[in-house]
Amino acid sequence: MSSIQIETASSNLVASVQTRGDWQDEFQKYGCVVIKNVITPERASYYRDKQIQWLKKFDLGFDENDESTWTADHLPVSFKGGMYFAYGAPHEKMAWEARTEPAVIDIFEKLWGTKEIISSFDGMNISLPRRKDLNWSPWPHCDQNPDRKGMQAVQGLLNYAPNGPNDGGLMLMKGSANLFDEFFAHKRESYDHEDAPPPEAQFMDLFLFSKEDVKWFEDRGCELIKVNMEPGDFVLWDSRTMHYACLPEGKQIRHVQYICMTPRKFATPEALELKKECFENFVGTTHWPHCNIRPTKEKPMRDGVVCPKDRNEPFEKPDVTETILRLAGVEAY
Ligand SMILES: [Fe+2]
Repeated sequence: MSSIQIETASSNLVASVQTRGDWQDEFQKYGCVVIKNVITPERASYYRDKQIQWLKKFDLGFDENDESTWTADHLPVSFKGGMYFAYGAPHEKMAWEARTEPAVIDIFEKLWGTKEIISSFDGMNISLPRRKDLNWSPWPHCDQNPDRKGMQAVQGLLNYAPNGPNDGGLMLMKGSANLFDEFFAHKRESYDHEDAPPPEAQFMDLFLFSKEDVKWFEDRGCELIKVNMEPGDFVLWDSRTMHYACLPEGKQIRHVQYICMTPRKFATPEALELKKECFENFVGTTHWPHCNIRPTKEKPMRDGVVCPKDRNEPFEKPDVTETILRLAGVEAY
């Protein structure tokens, strides 16, 4: 992993240790924080409905009220039981509406200390509880390559549904971002997990942790926590933080939009050009807004062939505004 070329962000803007009297203090201390009531419960309900409608638009027989239809046959193809990155999903109108919620933008502007930010074209997560057709195992990982130093990306998700202890969702190793350099000061091999992407996919910023690695962090005072949230809450975590998502086991469907933004100045002109290509062709990206831009379409595969429901544009395209063009990196500030 250490032999690959890494683009380096120009500066680490959160090196400051001054307190701010808001969520930023907890974020600085632990590398993660839940921010309450970023959107209203009503707005969260709107997004939940939009996500259910989106699943039904594939005409695969999915019925949110009939649990017998909560199987892969009745759903578009997802990753880890509910993450949707294909089918133009990252550019659905609802995804761009979430990214342009004023309070969401405000979080990332505060975090980085600049208004000139760009967004990832991340997917969403709609996880149906108690799926019987899934083989699932925890996959603790971080989304930053050890060769990148300091805080270079911060991930987030906007939560739409009640999310308690049995409702699956985000697991975070609280405090692990601060131990990132210490952990990787020794040579470490990424764990060979069954869901690890193939090497040719070039996920430069994915590192999978073993059980022993998990213990290494716990032995140093970190705590693996299940993040519980209410509709409208937002969680931020430094990409150096160990994390993964659990499947829900209660009655509640999990509804989430992944959102990540970083300063535009972190991006090279080439990355911005690739980003424009992705935006114009409704292609998604990783969590990284300013690098790792791969405008190749990874097709959703079903039973060994491309899903017959594959599509290369959203069902509902966004109303493209100045704000969207700037967040997409297409237009300068
Ligand atoms: Fe991740």
